[in-house]
Amino acid sequence: MTKSVTTILFLFSCCHHTLQLNPLPDFIHPCDDHSDECLTKATLDAIPGVVKGIPEAGIPPLDPLYLDRNITMELPGNVKLTFHNGKLTGLSTCIPNKVSSIREKRTFVFDIRCNFTIKGHYSIVGRILLFNLNTDGHAKIKIWNQHIHLEVLEKVVMNEKGEGHYKINSYKYNADYGTDLKMNLTNLFRGSPEISENVLNVLNSNSQLVAQEFGGPILNYAIDYAMNVTQHFFDTYTYDQISHVPLTEDFFEDN
Ligand SMILES: *[C@@H]1O[C@H](CO)[C@@H](O)[C@H](O)[C@H]1NC(C)=O
Ligand SMILES: *[C@@H]1O[C@H](CO)[C@@H](O)[C@H](O)[C@H]1NC(C)=O
Ligand SMILES: *[C@@H]1O[C@H](CO)[C@@H](O)[C@H](O)[C@H]1NC(C)=O
Ligand SMILES: *[C@@H]1O[C@H](CO)[C@@H](O)[C@H](O)[C@H]1NC(C)=O
Repeated sequence: MTKSVTTILFLFSCCHHTLQLNPLPDFIHPCDDHSDECLTKATLDAIPGVVKGIPEAGIPPLDPLYLDRNITMELPGNVKLTFHNGKLTGLSTCIPNKVSSIREKRTFVFDIRCNFTIKGHYSIVGRILLFNLNTDGHAKIKIWNQHIHLEVLEKVVMNEKGEGHYKINSYKYNADYGTDLKMNLTNLFRGSPEISENVLNVLNSNSQLVAQEFGGPILNYAIDYAMNVTQHFFDTYTYDQISHVPLTEDFFEDN
C-alpha cells in the first residue's frame, strides 16, 4: 500500500517534472564534444531557425530586427547624427566561419560573416566640410561580408530543481566592416541633390571609416540584443538538453 503510493508519487513527480521541460526545437543539434567541427556545424544549423523566432523561449523573429530606441552618434567635427525607426535586415544571412570553445576560460568564440542592410530615418546637425548641416531624411546602408569576432564568457548554474542552465557572464566583440559598403542618405543638403551626391561619394569612398562610425553603434545594439535572446534561450532549455558534453566542475564558476 505504502509502496504503491510512493510509486505513484514518484511517477507523478518524475513525469510532471519531465513535462515541464520545453521540447528542444529540431534545428538545435546538441554536440557530443566541443570540437570546432561540431560547434560550427551546430551554429550553422541553428541560425535559420533561431532567426525565425522561438515563441516558447520568448524569442521574436530577428530578421528584420527593429531598433526600439534612437541611436545617437557624435561624429568627428561636432556632427551629431540621430538614427531612429531603424531596421536591421540580414541576421539570417550570417554564416559561422568557425566556432570554438576555450574550456579553461569557459569561453565560446564565434567568427561570423553577415550581409546587413540598415534602414531608417536620420537627422543630422553639425558641420561637414564647409557646410552647416541641419537636415533629416532616409538612410540606407548596405554592408557585404561584415566580419564579427565574438567572445562569450559563460558558466553553468544549477536552479532549485537541480537543472543546469548556461548563464552569459560577459561578452566582447570586434568587427571589420566587410568587403564592401554602400551608404545613401537622402536630402543630406536640403534642396541640393548635386552637393548631396558628391558628399555621399566622398563618404562611400571612405567606407571602412563610415561603417565604423555609423554601423558601430547599430552593431552594438544588434549584438547586445542577440546576447539577450541567447540568454532567454539558455533560460528556457537546460544544459542537458542543448549539450551532450557531460557537466564537470570546470563548467561552474570558480569561487
Ligand atoms: C527619436 O528621435 C526622433 C527624431 O529626432 C524624435 O522625434 C523622438 O522623440 C525620439 N524618440 C526618443 C524615444 O528619444
Ligand atoms: C553576401 O552576399 C554576397 C553577394 O550576394 C554573397 O556572395 C555572399 O555569400 C553573402 N555573404 C554572406 C555571409 O551571406
Ligand atoms: C539614394 O537614394 C535616392 C532615393 O532612393 C536615389 O534617387 C539616389 O540615386 C540614391 N543615391 C545613391 C548614391 O545610391
Ligand atoms: C538587453 O537586456 C538588458 C537587461 O534587460 C537591457 O537593459 C538592454 O536594453 C537589452 N538590450 C537590447 C538591445 O534590447
